[in-house]
Amino acid sequence: MSKILVTGGTGYIGSHTLVDLIEAGFEVISVDNYINSDAKPLESIKEITGIQVKNYAVDLCDAKALKEVFEENTDIEGIIHFAALKSVGDSVADPVLYFRNNLVGLINLIECTLKYKIKNFIFSSSCTVYGNTEELPVTESTPEQEAESPYGRTKQIGEKMLKDAFNNTNTKCIALRYFNPAGAHSSIKLGESPVNKALNLVPVITETAIGKRDGMTVFGKDYDTRDGSCIRDYIHVMDLADAHTKAVKYLLGNDQLINFDTYNLGIGNGVSVIEAINAFEKVSGQKLNYEMGDRREGDVIAIYADYSKAKNNLGWTPKYGIEDIMDTAWKWEQARSS
Ligand code: NAD
Ligand code: WQD
Repeated sequence: MSKILVTGGTGYIGSHTLVDLIEAGFEVISVDNYINSDAKPLESIKEITGIQVKNYAVDLCDAKALKEVFEENTDIEGIIHFAALKSVGDSVADPVLYFRNNLVGLINLIECTLKYKIKNFIFSSSCTVYGNTEELPVTESTPEQEAESPYGRTKQIGEKMLKDAFNNTNTKCIALRYFNPAGAHSSIKLGESPVNKALNLVPVITETAIGKRDGMTVFGKDYDTRDGSCIRDYIHVMDLADAHTKAVKYLLGNDQLINFDTYNLGIGNGVSVIEAINAFEKVSGQKLNYEMGDRREGDVIAIYADYSKAKNNLGWTPKYGIEDIMDTAWKWEQARSS
């Protein structure tokens, strides 16, 4: 039973991945300072798996406290690094906050990885590294454009730091580039709990339907797409969790020859905002109160993934589509609002 250290384990994607790792037989510990979460997911993980995960409430920017976690756990075989701040808008308002949290945290974690000779490292990256690309679908070799935000910049720089830091070492690293994560665990005990007002499409839809918002706006109706709204690649959080487990197994099996590699995680299917709303209305039986509005500044018109590299190398194929995402997200919204 290999021990995996998960940073950001009480966050949205981290908590779902902990469940998947436990169910795959891994021993896990978490480091999360609750800057964008709380301890409740640990209770839910215990309800789902029967395992109480130990979380160290340590800020990754605190190098001394982080080292103590490694001193206490000398048998860590791999790291999955989710912990980061992720609000695009906040990062524009305060770039230095994002650089400090996401990059200093990563530097400290890289130092520990090398000092404690951890051989396997997985990094949460994002389709945001591609910027406003026109090449569709996006492959891992699609050239990166200028980052659209300081948040996006931390992902571009983070990947480059990992590549350089692990070059000519015994550590192998995978950066997983998620497209648009959404949905909840099928038990409806875990899901996305935005600390602040939700900005991403799926929670905006469910919050509108439950009545937390009076209505919502579709940002843009005259894009050059099949129905005039933007197109994205929505990926179920449990498909993402599965990809992390498969990536860990791939690294532990010494299947990766190079020190750093990247993988797209999307379902490869573009879904428009209107199609997403239609899927929600179909599975929930709710009529959504929305209006067609102006474009949102900075929005890419369309982006979706070619995930064939993850399929061929990691043996990963997404199982869920937009209706499964909406179904679980809606049930989760109802459960947490009751
Ligand atoms: P989240 O905010 O739910 O989880 C991140 C967790 O990290 C939180 O629990 C937070 O408390 C913790 N954290 C942040 N900074 C920390 C620090 N310095 N020390 C210790 N803990 C810290 O976010 P998420 O949606 O689960 O995202 C996980 C990762 O995936 C992030 O790196 C994010 O950038 C990346 N990502 C997310 C999306 C998305 O849309 N959710 C898309 C692409 C990439
Ligand atoms: C999706 C679509 C909106 C809200 C963001 C980050 C990206 C990555 C994933 C982390 C767009 C439309 C939304 C609303 C709408 N995160 N929309 N009305 O912008 O694709 O990506 O999350 O790495 O870096 O930028 O996601 O969910 O905000 O928007 O019409 O009220 O929904 O215009 O077309 P986005 P999103």
